[in-house]
Amino acid sequence: MLRYLVAQSGDEIFRRRALLKTIQRSGRLAFTLVEHAFDHAFGPRINPFYHLGALSFFFFWVVTASGIYLFIFFETSIEGAYRSVEYLTHEQWYLGSVARSLHRYASDAMVIVVLLHLAREFVLDRYRGVRWYAWITGVLLLWFLYASGIGGYWLVWDRLAQYIAVVTAEWFDWLPIFGEPMARNFLNNAAVSDRFFSLLSFLHIGIPLFLLLGMWIHILRISVAKTNPPRAIMIGTLLALTVLSALYPALSQGPADLDTVVSVVRPDWFYLALYPLIDVWSPGVAWGIAGGGTLLLMILPWLPRRREAAAAVVSLPNCNGCGRCFADCPYSAVIMLPRTDGLPYDSQASVNPDLCTACGICVGACPTATPFRRKTELIAGIDMPLLAIRTIREKTLTATTKLEGQDRVLVYGCQPGIDLTGLAQKGVGVLTLPCVAALTPSFIDFVITRHHADGVMLVGCAAGDCYHRLGVDWTEQRLAGQRDPYLRGRVPRERIATAWVAPSGAKRLTQALDAFRSRLRDMGPYQKGGSLPPPSASPSSNHGEVSDAAYRLG
Ligand code: HEM
Ligand code: SF4
Ligand code: SF4
Repeated sequence: MLRYLVAQSGDEIFRRRALLKTIQRSGRLAFTLVEHAFDHAFGPRINPFYHLGALSFFFFWVVTASGIYLFIFFETSIEGAYRSVEYLTHEQWYLGSVARSLHRYASDAMVIVVLLHLAREFVLDRYRGVRWYAWITGVLLLWFLYASGIGGYWLVWDRLAQYIAVVTAEWFDWLPIFGEPMARNFLNNAAVSDRFFSLLSFLHIGIPLFLLLGMWIHILRISVAKTNPPRAIMIGTLLALTVLSALYPALSQGPADLDTVVSVVRPDWFYLALYPLIDVWSPGVAWGIAGGGTLLLMILPWLPRRREAAAAVVSLPNCNGCGRCFADCPYSAVIMLPRTDGLPYDSQASVNPDLCTACGICVGACPTATPFRRKTELIAGIDMPLLAIRTIREKTLTATTKLEGQDRVLVYGCQPGIDLTGLAQKGVGVLTLPCVAALTPSFIDFVITRHHADGVMLVGCAAGDCYHRLGVDWTEQRLAGQRDPYLRGRVPRERIATAWVAPSGAKRLTQALDAFRSRLRDMGPYQKGGSLPPPSASPSSNHGEVSDAAYRLG
């Protein structure tokens, strides 16, 4: 019986996972198509889809700035509220109206990008395992976001606000929590007081402050969280919203009058989509949708739970306490502790396995993870149990031994990124790592200066969209000598190519590899001291594209 039950629940988990996988795959395809179009239009570096979390922050600040301006003129009384908003809209059309419209449109934009951010994290499977924390706090943020926006509509005290007030009261009255029904407060004009408006204003400031606190909590476990989108995206979206505000200013829908019943309103669908349902169906159904939806989102990271690969492990005898792994871990999984083993260093690294996604970026940061080490057993200060540095060295040698010609390339790719199996051919070896930044630059040095291949190509996720968040940035900085451990000056940069490509970029990647090999043929074999790089060249300007040589594109 027990065996039967276990088998049944196993089947159930399998079915659930299969369904989720199908939804994720279709969602991913849809995102890829749209992102591909945006890549074409703007280039990957300023593709807004790669900065949705940061854009949410940006729109929050736009809403805050415009809100502060509105608040200067806002009157917190029943008569004054509508009048002051009308004054801003019509008398101060040049600034007040634009600020009001910006406040509204940026709030709508925030809902759009937050929902896209949620959907994207889901389809890319970045919500389970260690990431459950960001996911759960994100779900809670949705409630604060909606409460902030709906509260704002209420303050205008027009017909729409009246509709919201009455329907919200009906909605909450369905819950057996209030002694007196809330709806009584909106029976007629005499039932609403100026004090009530002061309370509303207070809430409309207080809830967004809690939203901000929640946003901070949301990114607590993410190191170097990107909370500002690239400047071009900020300027572009702000300009677009300002033009929209000037062309289609936000307008009130006539003064509220509780002595009459509202028959027609134009709701803002981004915030108020649930309201017609409360009206048409019942408050209970609306609670079912909102509460059930929240609950479903909350348990999603455990349907089923993701089992991360084995966490990084510190080898104290090999750790000199330099702290590079601590600085580079994108998930704050490494901490530095006082030394405990008597070696003459101040600190030692320690990994919290509950936060580790097994990306290996810490290994790529560790100066001891070098294939040149002559110790009998190659063990790094920090290493991945499933793909130890020793194994990467062995695989590097295996992948290069059979390569022939003067254009031999070893491609290091990343497991969450584009599938590289098609690239392996005569003259091209392929090795896939958990993240491209799991490779210390010394491996590139090793491969080229020891003649294992004529060139090295690093392939990672599209710029700004690294699955492990910082892998591409750290790799570029290490190559450019801006971040430890950096690539030694003796390695000819023209023998290195980088390609940051989305899964849809297979054709571009093949073309880049062909072009790279053709240049290697022209260069001839590597000779010690042959061609030295420009020392201060920076690769960051090619961020996001397939480059021919990491250093020459500065
Ligand atoms: C006010 C709303 C939100 C803001 C401002 C926000 C902002 C951010 C930011 C800035 C990051 C870090 C991005 C990076 O540096 O890589 C992030 C990550 C994340 N967010 Fe949100 N977010 C919001 C809502 C949500 C929601 C509703 C969800 C899903 C329910 C969500 C899920 C996640 C997840 C799973 C990550 C972690 C990604 C990773 O570890 O790679 N967020 N968010
Ligand atoms: S494997 Fe990745 S998540 Fe784990 S400690 Fe290293 S850098 Fe951090
Ligand atoms: S990078 Fe390596 S040597 Fe430096 S603290 Fe981390 S484990 Fe130790």
